Amino acid sequence: MLNIGVLVSGGGTNLQAILDAIQSGQIPEAKIVKVISSKEGAYALTRAKNAGVDGVALVKKNFPSNEAYMDEMIRVLQQAKVDLVVLAGFMTVLSPKFIAAFPNRILNIHPSLIPSFCGVGYYGLKVHEAALQRGVKVTGATVHFVNEETDGGPIFLQKTVEVREDDTPQTLQQRVMEEAEWKILPEAIRLLSRGEAEVIDGKVRRVTRP
Ligand code: GAR
Repeated sequence: MLNIGVLVSGGGTNLQAILDAIQSGQIPEAKIVKVISSKEGAYALTRAKNAGVDGVALVKKNFPSNEAYMDEMIRVLQQAKVDLVVLAGFMTVLSPKFIAAFPNRILNIHPSLIPSFCGVGYYGLKVHEAALQRGVKVTGATVHFVNEETDGGPIFLQKTVEVREDDTPQTLQQRVMEEAEWKILPEAIRLLSRGEAEVIDGKVRRVTRP
């Protein structure tokens, strides 16, 4: 069984997509054992509670330093015996110590086709504003492993979404979620739970199991 810890900051629709995939039997070999929100009162915590999953808000300003904040997150995840950390709309940059505590065991969902519209400053709606500003005709989402470079870790899965002439950042964000994010994030977890993918020499390789 793959024990998952999910880190969230907001509405938690990606968390919901994972919960639904587990609930419906699509990912029988994975279980969410902990949800951590960087914001008090995030709706994602309500989604966790409704699914009977243990959730907690850990807010940076309540800690004396970023180091103390990261140490507490590491402690909570390790205590829950988490094998895989999933960033599902988590808007806080992880420290090198946190990343080193879970080597090649942190996944992130990003709402563009990396390496477009990613890195420092590209998050949430800003990503879609930038895509529309540039006039791209195709965008999408990426699931990647997390390393010390923001949005720079090994790419796992990507899915494209067409941009429409009348798209606003909001309509594009919604379609990228529906058509790409909510599909590829559960799929990445399913593959990992079955041991069907691994990071080799900085790239994600698919492993075929008999
Ligand atoms: C999602 O679109 C996710 O890709 C994005 O934030 C949204 C969270 O929505 N993440 C980033 O921009 C990370 N750089 P959710 O809380 O409903 O899952």
